[in-house]
Amino acid sequence: MSMKKIIAETYEELSRETSQRIAMFIRENPDSLVCFAAGDTPLGTYSELVKMQAAGEVNLSDVYYAGLDEWIGLGENDKGSCYQVMHDHFYNPARIPKERIHVFDGLKDPQISCEQMNEWLAKRGKLGLTLLGIGMNGHLGFNEPNVPQASGAIIVPLDETTKTVSVKYFDKELPVSMGVTLGLSTLLAAREVLLIASGEKKAQLIRNTFNGTKNPANPASMLQGHPRLTLLLDREASGL
Ligand code: PGA
Repeated sequence: MSMKKIIAETYEELSRETSQRIAMFIRENPDSLVCFAAGDTPLGTYSELVKMQAAGEVNLSDVYYAGLDEWIGLGENDKGSCYQVMHDHFYNPARIPKERIHVFDGLKDPQISCEQMNEWLAKRGKLGLTLLGIGMNGHLGFNEPNVPQASGAIIVPLDETTKTVSVKYFDKELPVSMGVTLGLSTLLAAREVLLIASGEKKAQLIRNTFNGTKNPANPASMLQGHPRLTLLLDREASGL
């Protein structure tokens, strides 16, 4: 298997390691399309990337960005929307020009939102690199357990685990039950896939996911066999 595994001692080291890999990709592949996950785990990576840019080590506006996913019903002003997280932690501090970014708008008709994303993908070609987290049910973006592999953007009913875990992102109770996401086939077609996980709570999941068997009930396991897959873990997540 061509999977590479990087184990960092701490979350900070993990963030630095991940940001360096992304920066290298951007330097080598200007004008390619990348897709970065929201969620808590990559936030350290985003602040490292912004620091690297300030130090003149990378120009983050050299590539184009596609949003990974969004909660249907949440928009830019909702704390915890993917829009809010990515703009506050990455696109705004990195001063990425608007015309280089296309993300889902969870307030739009989801069908239209998917069509617009598909147009953006068609214009930019395949993903060059994607940075993904892994949900507690193995989801990638909102490719929930047993959602059929799809190309382009799709609308997905959210899994119970996702609904339960999601309360950590929001400051109010929200009736979130559906999501939009780039489909698994689009993610799998990326030239390079980085999957980042941190903390003891992910250790069992990581062990079960990357055990050599692909299982649609655990979408992240479908990454196995990808020609350029790197798992980036901190010591706690790699513990088992
Ligand atoms: P997390 O989310 O980084 O907040 O754990 C991971 C995910 O759901 O993809």
